[in-house]
Amino acid sequence: MAWTERQRAMLEAMGVRVWAPDSGDEPVAGLDAAPAPARPIEPEPAPVAAQAARPSAQQAASRASPTSPQAPAIAPARTARETDIAAMDWPALREAVSTCQACDLCQSRRQTVFGVGNTQAHWMIVGEAPGEQEDAQGEPFVGQAGRLLDSLLRSIGQSRAEGPAPQQVFIANTLKCRPPRNRNPQPDELALCRPFLLRQVALVKPKIIIAMGKFAVQSLLGSDEAIGRLRGRVHQFAGVPLVVTYHPAYLLRQLTEKAKSWEDLCLAADVVERGG
Ligand code: URA
Repeated sequence: MAWTERQRAMLEAMGVRVWAPDSGDEPVAGLDAAPAPARPIEPEPAPVAAQAARPSAQQAASRASPTSPQAPAIAPARTARETDIAAMDWPALREAVSTCQACDLCQSRRQTVFGVGNTQAHWMIVGEAPGEQEDAQGEPFVGQAGRLLDSLLRSIGQSRAEGPAPQQVFIANTLKCRPPRNRNPQPDELALCRPFLLRQVALVKPKIIIAMGKFAVQSLLGSDEAIGRLRGRVHQFAGVPLVVTYHPAYLLRQLTEKAKSWEDLCLAADVVERGG
């Protein structure tokens, strides 16, 4: 397989090693020994440095639907718990999350996973729920999916590591507790944990939200539509532009979709650059 320089640049930025006939390396499949062999990625992605080739926010905005947020026509009244959470500052919110017993997940968790990163980040990443390693370490996305997320972020100049707000993301999950055996979040769990996520968004005040995967989309946009139908355009959540993309765990199984996630992140970068 002959890779173009452009393809190499992007794959390298995403942490994908590609076998070259003259490199002396063994063929390497994907990221971190992901199972499938590296295959051509369609459509051909632009190199990381080629900002001009990014999908443009204007193009995407022209495809944006005015009904994107899909909020219910009549918002249900807030509960007292929701009202309390909506008024919390960071320390109160951390405390409320760490002591939460609103659903049964509190019985099986080792610890809550609040979120990580710059509390004034321009980018907020929203995932699904802690897995085994996150439950053990108390930090989101520390397993294999997390390493892919870090590579994707690196490819667009973002990181969870300490840095200035424009370059350091804040990462949170829809659920703060691990579902047993990593089962899917249940609707009641999502509903009970949502006020925490909403408050995190309100406190961070990001310039862009990246909703990764089906449950982040359900929680933030209230939509059950497929990711493939929602990505590639700019939605709004609470006045913040929101871009939908695939969950990194899905990308580990579908290597060819990585290029689409990279495009989504480029779209998000464009939105931030243009000031929304
Ligand atoms: N997947 C998620 O969505 N979040 C995590 O923290 C880990 C894996």
